[in-house]
Amino acid sequence: MTAARPPLRPGRPDPWAALPALDAPLRALFAEIAAADDPAAPDLARIGRALIAFSQDHDYLAPRLVADAHGIARIRLHIPTRGPRLQVVRRPRGMMSPVHDHGSWVVMAPIAGVETHRRYRADGPGTDARVAEVARDALGAHAALTLMDPDDIHDHGHLEGNGDPAWLLVINGDEPAAVTRREWDLARGTCRILRPGDGGRFLTDDPLPEG
Ligand SMILES: [Fe+2]
Repeated sequence: MTAARPPLRPGRPDPWAALPALDAPLRALFAEIAAADDPAAPDLARIGRALIAFSQDHDYLAPRLVADAHGIARIRLHIPTRGPRLQVVRRPRGMMSPVHDHGSWVVMAPIAGVETHRRYRADGPGTDARVAEVARDALGAHAALTLMDPDDIHDHGHLEGNGDPAWLLVINGDEPAAVTRREWDLARGTCRILRPGDGGRFLTDDPLPEG
């Protein structure tokens, strides 16, 4: 059955243009995303179900899961210029991302391992805003988690004592580096603006950029 596609977002390239050229498992996943990504009200639960189904296709995914010598992986499975994009990320044992937002919806699901995911609320819109943790999940296989901007402040990765680091499928509703976002450093108690083009730091241990 072919689902109706929602209207394109005005002024943006067609995010579905490359869909026919994708491998069959990716094509099936992105057909579901296209049907669910209504600009007015994306159906994130539906995208989560599709991502869980995709996460269980180990024949397709396992050969693609390659980490570097530090146990870090950022594997681009489908990254169009704009619109929903899919990658696999893996943070090393005991290492988390900085607290950040995305400026778009996010759906994530582990292929294997356990991803610690913490949600935060900020007490204001600027760089003097402080964040407080409001929810924590240990996300394992066969589960998905969704975030909707602007309530999308979070950090994630691996905490000691929580299984093995996850191979995490992440769909971002749009290119995070195309919008202005924020990134917090909990250890220093600081927040900085991520201008368009700044993808932010991957790990809390990554150095802050100059300037
Ligand atoms: Fe994130």
